[in-house]
Amino acid sequence: MSEQRRFFSHETLERNVGWLIITTIVVISIAGLVQIVPLFFQHSTTEPSPGVEPYSALRLAGRDIYQREGCLGCHSQQIRTLRSEVERYGPYSIAGESVFDHPFLWGSKRTGPDLARVGGRYSDAWHQIHLRNPRDVVPESNMPAYPYLQKPVAADTISSHMVAMRRLGVPYTDEQIANAPKELEGKTEEDALIAYLQGLGVNRRYIVVDEVVAK
Ligand code: HEC
Repeated sequence: MSEQRRFFSHETLERNVGWLIITTIVVISIAGLVQIVPLFFQHSTTEPSPGVEPYSALRLAGRDIYQREGCLGCHSQQIRTLRSEVERYGPYSIAGESVFDHPFLWGSKRTGPDLARVGGRYSDAWHQIHLRNPRDVVPESNMPAYPYLQKPVAADTISSHMVAMRRLGVPYTDEQIANAPKELEGKTEEDALIAYLQGLGVNRRYIVVDEVVAK
């Protein structure tokens, strides 16, 4: 057997930890790429689902507050394809609903309920009371109160935020970006957060899933 052939034999690999690690990484990387790369080119994962629009300036600002306040630590935004989830929360989440989310806020921790389809479930007034003191509407709630969001929402950074989003592929027009600070005029952080919540999942809120009409 030539030196060349022995170098590639299984025995050589198994006796040489360095090569074993390197070739294992190569094989796993190829397998990973074969699974992951096509997702970047599939329309169902890269194109917005029907009814999914880029966030308005107010909702984008609200989304920032959602991240800043750590709502993600207790609330997921991803309904799984299980019957129990669909009956409780509504139609399961699909990739095309998150194409404008940078970063996505799917989360995995559910101290509170999933919020992927909370839009329109309650009135703005309910959210206001709930955010200021959750116990006023849900006595057994252990959600923290957020009474300090009644201050003006920062309008000076929203345009640059939208420019950054555009660079990531969100199709904001120059006009939308220029008008963004005006849209936030006179609004509080609480208003922005509620606007964000009220739009969550409304694109696919009512569809018939396996004879269960999800509400
Ligand atoms: C410590 C965990 C925790 C954090 C942090 C938290 N929540 Fe909650 N949230 C809960 C729990 C528990 C409930 C269920 C009881 C209730 O309705 O208050 C809930 C309920 C909700 C509901 C009602 C959902 C429904 O379908 O009834 C909304 C909306 C909500 N939270 C929004 C938020 C927002 C926005 C933030 C961040 C500003 C936040 N939560 C932070 C625990 C949390």
